[in-house]
Amino acid sequence: MTSWIAEVPTQGAVELPPDPHALDALGRNHSLETALADLVDNSVDAGAGHVLIRFIRDRVHLIGLYVVDDGKGMTPEGIDAAMTLGGRRTYDSSDLGRFGIGLKAASFSQAESLTVLSRSVGRPAVGRRWLHEQDRSSFHCDVVPSEFAEAELGRSWPFSATSSGTVIRWDRVAGFPAVEDSQQVATFLSRSVEHLRGHLGLMFHRLLEAGRVRITIDVEDVDGGRGAPTEVTPIDPFGYPKSAPGWPRTLIADSPRGPLRIVCHLWPRKSNSVEYRLPGGAENRQGLYFYRHDRLLHAGGWEGIHAPDKKLQLARASIDIDGDLTGMFVMNPEKSKVTAGADFAPAVTAARAADGTTMSDYLQAAEAMWSTSNQRTTAQRRAVIPPGKGLNPKVAREIVDELPQLPVEPLNILWAKFDSDDFFEVDRTTQTLRLNNRYRTAVLGGRRGGLNDAPLLKAALFLLTENVFQGAHLGARDKDNIELWQNILTIAARAELASHTGRS
Ligand SMILES: Nc1ncnc2c1ncn2[C@@H]1O[C@H](COP(=O)(O)OP(=O)(O)OP(=O)(O)O)[C@@H](O)[C@H]1O
Ligand SMILES: [Mg+2]
Repeated sequence: MTSWIAEVPTQGAVELPPDPHALDALGRNHSLETALADLVDNSVDAGAGHVLIRFIRDRVHLIGLYVVDDGKGMTPEGIDAAMTLGGRRTYDSSDLGRFGIGLKAASFSQAESLTVLSRSVGRPAVGRRWLHEQDRSSFHCDVVPSEFAEAELGRSWPFSATSSGTVIRWDRVAGFPAVEDSQQVATFLSRSVEHLRGHLGLMFHRLLEAGRVRITIDVEDVDGGRGAPTEVTPIDPFGYPKSAPGWPRTLIADSPRGPLRIVCHLWPRKSNSVEYRLPGGAENRQGLYFYRHDRLLHAGGWEGIHAPDKKLQLARASIDIDGDLTGMFVMNPEKSKVTAGADFAPAVTAARAADGTTMSDYLQAAEAMWSTSNQRTTAQRRAVIPPGKGLNPKVAREIVDELPQLPVEPLNILWAKFDSDDFFEVDRTTQTLRLNNRYRTAVLGGRRGGLNDAPLLKAALFLLTENVFQGAHLGARDKDNIELWQNILTIAARAELASHTGRS
């Protein structure tokens, strides 16, 4: 006889409201960029035509941040639901909101105080404030007087938020620099604005391109000054100037949740454009791009279909996870990552384009495109001796990728003991460029030496001198070049040594 009892018996129930400390765990995966993207989502859902992100500076300190929009705003009845954790509303089929936590999680991941001021057309302005560290025995939210809400909505924004709109205000932002150094704050600001332009430009590129929303960033000084606004421009990861012939192709698979469409693009070649390079680097951006309601959630990665591979970096495929397909994927609450569920891999394997192309055909085509487009550029370049000992492996790999290689012994660049003051010595019998050890400590500037040390110097020397190791003899031109480099580099090395030891 088994002791298994199928039904667990119960005896009454207890109410267990969440402890307010649960708030501390929210939004832990957010960065400033992803948190602000979450607020922009809300503005887009509110039908805003313009969103402004404004940093507030008091002399040297950054003291706050605003996200302002001219959307439909919140009513006096609606604002409490908006401030409630998990306070979900009925979503439209195209809404970006889903969980009812974005505003709170994003804000508390960055700031100690969240204030929401809003007005819906024809209704009084309303405001609420929530302090993160406040009395944690309750979910206590402060009511802000209507006059203050009205004043904040009426501040000098680049558009009018007075008839309807929303102001989100963050005070005491944890990531802002605490130093008194205006230079450091300026660096922080320019870097943050650049990161934000990159992230928001990428994540909202479809909406920006379609003109559905404008996003600008500026800095306001409390004493009245205001910097020129920076416009967030769209960065389309599929924005190649001319597509590779025959691409993109759309692979379609039937899944239990409806048809899965994978639009497989091939960049025709590596490019220096911002669309190709993308924040994070092109190599890390190969793979799948998940969109939900035209907002990019996740940019790159193969979700287990394939391992990342330098040779696949021309391949980027988009998947719109709207409607029923949402169930095949899990989106994190920060809306910065999508994970594929168990149904995904079989659907991808089954997917076919109209001409029969499969995912593995696509990956092969991407690899072939990478090698032919590389050959095309490298073929026009002069062949070099392969890099040998002494060069940093990453540098060596890049040289091999970028330049055709001669079928000869590799070129080594090694430190050695010299009797003279000369900086270098060309030894063609062992294919070695020797560098005078007496300058090594000065060149390394106190860092530890090793076989592959001084990567920058050695890479520059490789490019400069590699040619004299080619051919059966040293020509007159080579000899003259070696003498010239020796004179100049030895002077430079002595100067390096003098500045290192403090002597002149
Ligand atoms: N800028 C805004 N303009 C108008 N209403 C807003 C704005 N920001 C938030 N709201 C209201 O507050 C509610 C809660 O926002 P919150 O971001 O916390 O959740 P959500 O957007 O519903 O879902 P998600 O957790 O997926 O973001 C929204 O549903 C919306 O009704
Ligand atoms: Mg939201």
